[in-house]
Amino acid sequence: MAIRKIGVVGCGLMGGGIAQTCAQSGYEVVVREVNQELLDKGLARIYSAWDMMATKGKLTKGQVDENRSRLHGTLNLEDYADCDLVIEAVIENMEEKLRLFPALDRIVNPEALLLTNTSSLNVTQMGAVTKRPHKVCGLHFFNPAPVMKLVEVVQTISSSEDTIEVVKQFAISLGKTPVLAKDTAGFIVNFLLIPYLIAAIRLLENGQASRDDIDNAMKLGCGYPMGPFTLLDYVGLDTTLWAAEAIYEEYKDPLYAPPPLLRRMVQSGIYGKKSGRGFYDYQ
Ligand code: CAA
Repeated sequence: MAIRKIGVVGCGLMGGGIAQTCAQSGYEVVVREVNQELLDKGLARIYSAWDMMATKGKLTKGQVDENRSRLHGTLNLEDYADCDLVIEAVIENMEEKLRLFPALDRIVNPEALLLTNTSSLNVTQMGAVTKRPHKVCGLHFFNPAPVMKLVEVVQTISSSEDTIEVVKQFAISLGKTPVLAKDTAGFIVNFLLIPYLIAAIRLLENGQASRDDIDNAMKLGCGYPMGPFTLLDYVGLDTTLWAAEAIYEEYKDPLYAPPPLLRRMVQSGIYGKKSGRGFYDYQ
């Protein structure tokens, strides 16, 4: 099937990055937020990324205008009706996703694919609340979505081979490299990344090393672009906590048990870069 028009649900950090990526790859994009303030904020972030790319000579002024004309903000789910593929990127809350998927299923063209950008929640369950579970799978982007080359294509028990093939080709058309993962909590990247981030928090909690020394150790000792605390703040402490909880819930493996410090920071509204404070201060 030909994919021409994309729906992105949510214009936060991930949804906005995905909408940006799709629009700059030539797709018509409809992106929806729950209120005008969030929509304006999300669109402004995308516009400023394109302006920054134009300043760096990566886009011409004409290309910025074309990208803008392909990107449509909305507050109405009904505007997804004629999309060929819809990517859900709302908050990592299963109840929210289980409300959204049947609504999308009712509204969106029955031939369209319904995808989720979840990083660790159960994709099979999201498909099971629709009448088209064979057309549901995961497409997990990494932050920052326009820059990171990887996407995980997540196949549920019900996703058809056709769906997976179309989604892989779609990912390639966005300039991404797709890897295939079965629908188990954490897929590939978070299954490996979460224990590493949790271990860094435990080292700090136990007073074994300082924040800066741990970050420097992993940057300079392993060549990682960011140390674990910079990455935690970048990804979001709330997102990390949700991912850890989801994987812990699936396997009950203590490797994934959220450390007390992480939980208490999130309970205090300390979410990382996006809230102005995380392990570092961004005020
Ligand atoms: N749109 C377009 N381009 C963007 C952009 C955006 N939104 N954001 C950044 N860029 C570009 C910059 O313009 C820059 O381009 P040039 O090299 O041409 O100048 C390039 O990306 C690199 O950005 P910066 O120069 O600002 O900074 P940097 O060199 O330090 O790189 C980084 C930033 C790419 C984020 C790098 O630090 C990195 O790779 N960090 C690790 C990120 C990571 O691990 N992400 C995965 C997290 S896990 C996850 O997301 C999954 C989950 O479920 C939790």
